[in-house]
Amino acid sequence: MAKKKTHLYVFCYFVFCITTKTLLAQTAFNWLAYGDLRGYFEPCGCDPKSDLGGVARIATLVQRERSTNKNLLVFDLGNNYNTIKKNQIKRKYIQKAFDEIKPTVSLVNRAEISYGPESLGERTYVLSNLIRSNNKKYAKVLDFYEDEKYLVLGFYWQQDHFSQVLSWDTGLKQKWSEWFKKNSKKQKILLYSGPSSTLGEIIKTFSFDLIIKSNEKPPGTPVSFDEQDNPSLLSKFVSGQSIKMVPWGGLGVLRGGQLSEGLSIKEIMSQNISSDTFIQKTPALSFQEDIERSITWLVPSYSTGTPLKSLIKEYEKESSQEFEITTKERALNIEDSLFVGAQACQGCHPQAFEIWSKSKHAHAYETLQKKNRETNLDCISCHVVGWDQKGGFASIKTSPHLANIQCENCHGPRKEHIINPSLKLGNISLEECKKCHNAVHSPTFNKKTFWAKIFHGKETG
Ligand code: HEC
Ligand code: HEC
Ligand code: HEC
Ligand code: HEC
Repeated sequence: MAKKKTHLYVFCYFVFCITTKTLLAQTAFNWLAYGDLRGYFEPCGCDPKSDLGGVARIATLVQRERSTNKNLLVFDLGNNYNTIKKNQIKRKYIQKAFDEIKPTVSLVNRAEISYGPESLGERTYVLSNLIRSNNKKYAKVLDFYEDEKYLVLGFYWQQDHFSQVLSWDTGLKQKWSEWFKKNSKKQKILLYSGPSSTLGEIIKTFSFDLIIKSNEKPPGTPVSFDEQDNPSLLSKFVSGQSIKMVPWGGLGVLRGGQLSEGLSIKEIMSQNISSDTFIQKTPALSFQEDIERSITWLVPSYSTGTPLKSLIKEYEKESSQEFEITTKERALNIEDSLFVGAQACQGCHPQAFEIWSKSKHAHAYETLQKKNRETNLDCISCHVVGWDQKGGFASIKTSPHLANIQCENCHGPRKEHIINPSLKLGNISLEECKKCHNAVHSPTFNKKTFWAKIFHGKETG
């Protein structure tokens, strides 16, 4: 068995040398691509499995890669703002963050068109099918990006933006042909967002050295980790070519060429990986196409020493200010609140209190404080009592007794019950846990095992 494996490695090693020498020598250039953040600014850190992505980690990865790779091309596929829940603060900081990262070229995609030209930052944008006459405000957007080696085109099409972008037609084909002719010696790259059928048409006419596609999930799709579990979701056959898409939510970065952080053949051979994984992890061995395109998931190690430190501080400050406004309004309801806090239960339910006080629920607010996120509206709702109800937590000053997850998150407001204990509010189902323990914030949640950890009453189904 061991011998067989060695043979396979040696065989693969030769295939690798030959393919890389013959194919990469002509076409290899090193690139990174991200996009489709859809407003996902930073990972929450609620669970290691879902702790992916965010602008700070993209910045760190790009910086690391650039330090060893001066000619690195960085492509921003756009669609980085949330078009469903429009949030101007986040929009502004995502825009600023990518201005600091300075991608080589950014595509004007659906979200950028929806928010309008003011959502474009101070960097290089491309849109090769923009209708110029209707879009004077997009004057700084290029038809194509070029330098001595590369020609980069961008295409975005969606029915509802027909007045701003041209669909694929003979006029456009003509223009692109001219650009192609003038730049025949350069590497051609296409940043694409639109239907696969149109991309199929484009591929039939033009031969690109690299095509990167925007993610296809519809607007408003909640964050999920299906692509990480199954990366083949990010690959698509269009007109016989395998096309890769950037991961949803900026949870990962697409990369190609011979980047310093990619798995080297030596590393793989020194690890005792089965031949199946070996092939999977180095698709280059079976398809040259794939060596240029793989995904790096943005795990916590990418947030250390972030180049965006001061920008993120500014973002926190501004979201705190927004939080303060909400807090003032909420504070007005504290006096008449029907929430009383766990302390009021201790005397009559000492056992339940004891169990709760030793649970992680009792420290959920501190958790946010440790991460400096206790005044962030994206975090607070699941880490305090009654955020979605009148009389719930307002601020640590006005309602310290309602910080953390407490009895009343599950048992409902209990003011009337402490006055008249025979007043029952009925049993609760473990389905209720999923309001907070959802797929994003608690991907490993399991009713049985989680309930067992905080069990303090009769069995429940
Ligand atoms: C209002 C939101 C909310 C609800 C409802 C909720 N939880 Fe939690 N739960 C949290 C938060 C937040 C944490 C993490 C606290 C921390 O560590 O800061 C947590 C942590 C836990 C943990 C600790 C996990 C670990 O890693 O040890 C268990 C167990 C748990 N919850 C069980 C439950 C069960 C069972 C229910 C339903 C009966 C439930 N929770 C309902 C918010 C909630
Ligand atoms: C939808 C509800 C929800 C939101 C919103 C939420 N959390 Fe959580 N958080 C949870 C739950 C549930 C857990 C417990 C997860 C588990 O153990 O499975 C948790 C756990 C955590 C933990 C781990 C605590 C530990 O004991 O290790 C951190 C850190 C955290 N959250 C920070 C944040 C931050 C920062 C934000 C905002 C960016 C946020 N959370 C937003 C529900 C939420
Ligand atoms: C003055 C004593 C007293 C206080 C204070 C008190 N309880 Fe109770 N609670 C009781 C008694 C007695 C029962 C049992 C009633 C019965 O079975 O008739 C009960 C029953 C319950 C039940 C099961 C029945 C139901 O309503 O679902 C829950 C849950 C409960 N209490 C939660 C709480 C919480 C949460 C607090 C604090 C906010 C609290 N209790 C404060 C005395 C108290
Ligand atoms: C994370 C959710 C959660 C928290 C926090 C929580 N409980 Fe419970 N509690 C439950 C569930 C679920 C049950 C069992 C199902 C039921 O009886 O409704 C239960 C059962 C009980 C019961 C027994 C009810 C009965 O009829 O036997 C009492 C009393 C109670 N809890 C009181 C408390 C008190 C007091 C606190 C705070 C110190 C607290 N609980 C915190 C979810 C929670």
